[in-house]
Amino acid sequence: MRFEHPATFNPIDQLKVVGHPTSRIDGPKKTTGTAPYAYERHDVVANQAYGYVIGSAIGKGRIKAIDLAAASDAPGVLAIVTAENAGKLDKGERNAAPLLGGPEIAHYHQAVAVVVAETFEQARAAAQLVRIDYAKGEGKFDLAAAADGAITPKPSFGGPADTAVGEFGSAFAAAPVQLDARYTTPDQGHAMMEPHASIAAWDGDKLTVWTSNQMIAWGAGDLAKTLRIPKDKVRMVSPYIGGGFGGKLFLRADVLLAALGARAAKRPVKIALQRPLMFNNTTHRPATIQRIRIGAERDGKITAIGHESWSGNVKDGEAETAVSQTRLLYAGANRMTAMRLAALDLPEGNAMRAPGEASGMMALEIAIDELAEKLGMDPVALRIVNDTQVDPEHPERRFSQRQLVRCLSDGAARFGWSRRNAEPGKLRDGRFLVGMGVAAAFRNNLLTKSAARVRLDQQGTVTVETDMTDIGTGSYTIIAQTAAEMMGVPLEKVAVHLGDSDFPVSCGSGGQWGGNNSTAGVYAACIKLREAIAQKLGFNSAEAEFTDGLVRAGNRSVPLAQAAGRDGIVAEDAIEYGDLAKTYQQSTFGAHFVEVGVDADTAEIRVRRMLAVCAAGRILNPKAARSQVIGAMTMGVGAALMEDLVVDKRHGLFINHDLAGYEVPVHADIPHQEMIFLDETDPMSSPMKAKGVAELGICGVAAAVANAVYNATGIRVRDYPITLDKLL
Ligand code: MOS
Repeated sequence: MRFEHPATFNPIDQLKVVGHPTSRIDGPKKTTGTAPYAYERHDVVANQAYGYVIGSAIGKGRIKAIDLAAASDAPGVLAIVTAENAGKLDKGERNAAPLLGGPEIAHYHQAVAVVVAETFEQARAAAQLVRIDYAKGEGKFDLAAAADGAITPKPSFGGPADTAVGEFGSAFAAAPVQLDARYTTPDQGHAMMEPHASIAAWDGDKLTVWTSNQMIAWGAGDLAKTLRIPKDKVRMVSPYIGGGFGGKLFLRADVLLAALGARAAKRPVKIALQRPLMFNNTTHRPATIQRIRIGAERDGKITAIGHESWSGNVKDGEAETAVSQTRLLYAGANRMTAMRLAALDLPEGNAMRAPGEASGMMALEIAIDELAEKLGMDPVALRIVNDTQVDPEHPERRFSQRQLVRCLSDGAARFGWSRRNAEPGKLRDGRFLVGMGVAAAFRNNLLTKSAARVRLDQQGTVTVETDMTDIGTGSYTIIAQTAAEMMGVPLEKVAVHLGDSDFPVSCGSGGQWGGNNSTAGVYAACIKLREAIAQKLGFNSAEAEFTDGLVRAGNRSVPLAQAAGRDGIVAEDAIEYGDLAKTYQQSTFGAHFVEVGVDADTAEIRVRRMLAVCAAGRILNPKAARSQVIGAMTMGVGAALMEDLVVDKRHGLFINHDLAGYEVPVHADIPHQEMIFLDETDPMSSPMKAKGVAELGICGVAAAVANAVYNATGIRVRDYPITLDKLL
């Protein structure tokens, strides 16, 4: 189905099921430990052996020799796969560094071998006996040093490297109030609870993998490509995922090595990437250096805005698109943005929750706070003065919806912003200096084709099948709500099956596009199913009403179970958007307010209150959406105060590669979080009139914390994370 915009009234607008704060239908399984995660699928295939991954001990260089003799003779060992004996491999379209390294080493902990044995312990013990002789090369591991030689990357998913409108240089020079500041954000890791994990089993030339992956079609496609086998020989299954945050968007080493190990051992093989490998073997959010220049009139109107960002990556890796939001968030006639990419030999950088905006907003929203202070203006008011209802780089494109101003003003009222003292360091509560900070939230809303299949059976049950995934976000639930609403049945009469490459290809879970697009795909399939049912019954499909488990037209009414008949009725369709995204700029907006206390003696920072106000189209399930946003707010606190993959610049690795050294917030770090959704529908986004929200929640949080710390202490920290040593 081609989405015809604007969306008019449709069955979803009844809101009998959609829009309700339904508890997650997968919740009981998750909370009782009975949701089957990939590594635990003992049931799916017999005779599983265990793989143990060996990561490169050097950051750059080559393997001179590998001696497998002792390891091969160790008890229980079935096979050892290295680049030497794996056969010819290709590289996935979405992988920069090869997933199996050797003889060339692209980065530290790049997989160089997998040992397969009868038990995990045997595989691990044998792995210690593999002797690898490395020739260590010179690597580049320091972004600041490599930034000078950075290149202009080619246009990517995140747009072109450079944009310019008007005359930035002269307008900035002429501006009566100027800000020119440099910010840095560190490398960050996804650090999800469930590591990358897979079971692989060959049946002749057919491969099945049970894994943990956000994007089934990407993963299955890249697995086939890497193994140089036809796509239809690969089945990928990923119904439950214990967190992804972008780390599981792509094919990773666990899947490939399980497949290679299984081929070599002639047995199904399971691999869970060992926790110590998680941070250097997989992808991470790349560090950035950002320079922001803003020129404004004395009334706060921005006349010039410039944002440059430097990040690094391995060969074939992309730049972190940290300037994305600056192209769209504030008005101003003269503008420039630029992204530069430095060659680094650290592990591969890639998407982590709200790639681009999460890092970019960390810098931009401090810059706005700094500008407000120079102007002697309230930072909420400054943001409101510079609102725009059109894409400032392409004024002919309007935002489909943009309620940033309401998010800011409603939030300010709710948070008690008027009680903030504009002069920093003035408010005290016992030992603590108290401050408030604000930041805008911004993240784009992406429209992606998404398909689903729906079936009505003679029990009157509606079964949905789509390769969409649920990474803890609530996909199962909002998809069930959508099908229930469309078919006029209670939630209990809907069964949802996800995460299987045998199902129609969905949008998958990434870039906060999953909620709106996957449900819109289910909507499209349900429209087709309604038509098929009406046709079978001889009803005029335009008149047919689906409600209370019945289909009605005129004075006739038939129970759905009866309409289905013995064979049931199946329909499949996809939602497609054409070039709608070119006509309207689709983004989501919000405002984050944070109060912190900073211990006047020790500089310990405690977040005391948080509020987020979000405008993100129709909220399909306020409970699931709230959980997404408060999780994102928590992650934003981590970004502000804790998260930091520390680069060992001598050896080229993230040295704190475990959950003890890589700090993230725990419950005791997080205060009461309040969050409000504006009552909004966006008729340009899809028939669901919904948008993404899960990544919006993180964008701006860290800057709001930084601004609150400044307000409390008068110390402006521009290098994240804001650890207490930076305040002493
Ligand atoms: Mo998201 S970083 O696109 O999973």
